[in-house]
Amino acid sequence: MSTARTRPPSVQLVYFLAAFCLLNWAANCSELRVRVRLTDGQVTEEILEADSEKDFISLEFKEGDGTLITFIADFKQDVKLFRALILGELERGQNQYQALCFLTRLLPNEIIPSESMAKLRQENPQAVRIAEEQRGVEPLTMDVAVNFSKASQLSAHIHNVCAEAQDAIYTREVDVKYWLDRGADGSMFEILPKASDFPGLQSCQASEDLWRPCTCQYSLRLEWYPCLLKFCRSRDNSGKVSPYKCGIKSCRKGYQFDYYVPQKQLCFWDGET
Ligand SMILES: *[C@@H]1O[C@H](CO)[C@@H](O)[C@H](O)[C@H]1NC(C)=O
Repeated sequence: MSTARTRPPSVQLVYFLAAFCLLNWAANCSELRVRVRLTDGQVTEEILEADSEKDFISLEFKEGDGTLITFIADFKQDVKLFRALILGELERGQNQYQALCFLTRLLPNEIIPSESMAKLRQENPQAVRIAEEQRGVEPLTMDVAVNFSKASQLSAHIHNVCAEAQDAIYTREVDVKYWLDRGADGSMFEILPKASDFPGLQSCQASEDLWRPCTCQYSLRLEWYPCLLKFCRSRDNSGKVSPYKCGIKSCRKGYQFDYYVPQKQLCFWDGET
């Protein structure tokens, strides 16, 4: 914790008064555009949106190769949703693009609340931002397929965001257990074959047969997102100290998804042959 006076200048986003949103709510008060540098050195623009009514935050950006990444934190249902729209290589007879959707449980304190996000304002939009905290890469084994036509019960966003990924919506058994305990309908989930069911199942990267099953890997990274609220302390005339929200901490985090595919060709980005 730091006081307002000692707040480091690196906090480039200021926590704005609620009045800002009330006065400007017809404007893009809940949209933030943040320039970030990708792993390959290119600069891209992240668009962050928050809706405190529907209680979600979305983040979207394009990677250097044109892949569109969409991330949604749905606080209503404790769901994190990742979608990748990956451009295919037309000259190799691939579809125009392939869409993937990954769902995992949203844990408490992974990202700031939507109502706080809706109050963030950009101070210096041209600056290329670097996250204050590096949260590494989380490996996730996606061992369950999700039926698109039933998935809206889990999160209202799936219907729109995963429409192009109907045959490629994945989650994890451990997350499914959590959602089932909260009353989700189990019939939308289907457990995928496990690596142990297939002796000799290879990673798609190592596999040379386009028609054989393998374990596909897809990785992405959220370069910058507001992961924590910062609190400052004010002291009134009587000397009483009280905390107030005065900024955010930004984080960077990678996600590495592993999942079964019945044919290597469904995983064309993993290990060019
Ligand atoms: C998904 O659910 C619908 C509606 O119950 C069903 O008709 C369909 O066969 C299911 N799809 C798969 C791939 O199981």
